[in-house]
Amino acid sequence: ARLAGVMGWPVGHSLSPRLHGHWFERYRIDGTYVPLPVRPEDVALAFQALPRLGFLGWNVTVPHKEAAFRLVDEHDPAAARIGAVNTVLVQPDGRLLGLNTDGAGFLAHLRATAPSWTPAAGPVALLGAGGAARGIAVALLEAGVPSLRLTNRTPERAAALAEELARLGRGVELLPWAAREGAFLEGAALLVNATSLGMAGQPPLELSLTVLPRAAVVADIVYVPLETALLRAARRRGHVAVDGLGMLLHQAVPGFSHWGGVVPVVDEALRAAVL
Ligand code: ATR
Repeated sequence: ARLAGVMGWPVGHSLSPRLHGHWFERYRIDGTYVPLPVRPEDVALAFQALPRLGFLGWNVTVPHKEAAFRLVDEHDPAAARIGAVNTVLVQPDGRLLGLNTDGAGFLAHLRATAPSWTPAAGPVALLGAGGAARGIAVALLEAGVPSLRLTNRTPERAAALAEELARLGRGVELLPWAAREGAFLEGAALLVNATSLGMAGQPPLELSLTVLPRAAVVADIVYVPLETALLRAARRRGHVAVDGLGMLLHQAVPGFSHWGGVVPVVDEALRAAVL
């Protein structure tokens, strides 16, 4: 059987086993995808052991993405730029290739859900400065957005991210958290919530969209609940709303292509299977 899994700590909440399990069944592939709860101090050991146990690869989730970056033998360009790995592929010669598919997954879902959006449409307003924000920011800048506005509760983290992104050579603008309902949204073509605000168990994201142009697309990375207060408010104002689940589904495609041997599709049946 083809063997793969998802490594995290904790990892019980991960939807990935259902996702990859659905694809294995759908394509009638004899495969198994298991949750791998690995403590931070055991990650290096696990990276040595999994290939010897027959794993063809594995996904990596919180809090191991940076450790995974250090433990693989080579990186794809996205992982190299982001400094974090979410997918590990065991190569035929046993070397470990680390990918970061989060940003590409976000973009693929955005393009599928909001086909009228193009990078040239205008400035992007990105809330957050954590790992998720970093991956999305890099992908959007590489897609060619004219400018990227960043804001974050903790200004130091936003400044650090802006400095990193400036190396990609494009217009990254830092805005104070207090401006998030004003200058941050004015004239934006895409608003992205890349904070954990609005997630079940976290405080809500309270953001008035009054100054956001009606043509703007609104995206949230939060997918529990699937319809966040932000997306509900956006839909009410007539914006195209892009939910967080699609990013999760699309980021899984390169991994499954490797351990499943088939390029899988992301569709309604898959969404229904993981919900
Ligand atoms: P991830 O890697 O998933 O992005 P993270 O690095 O913990 O996770 O980042 C979480 C993001 O949500 C950060 O931008 C964080 O803001 P801070 O940098 O100020 O911590 C944001 N966030 C979490 N709780 C928040 C809150 N109560 N108010 C505002 N922002 C919050």
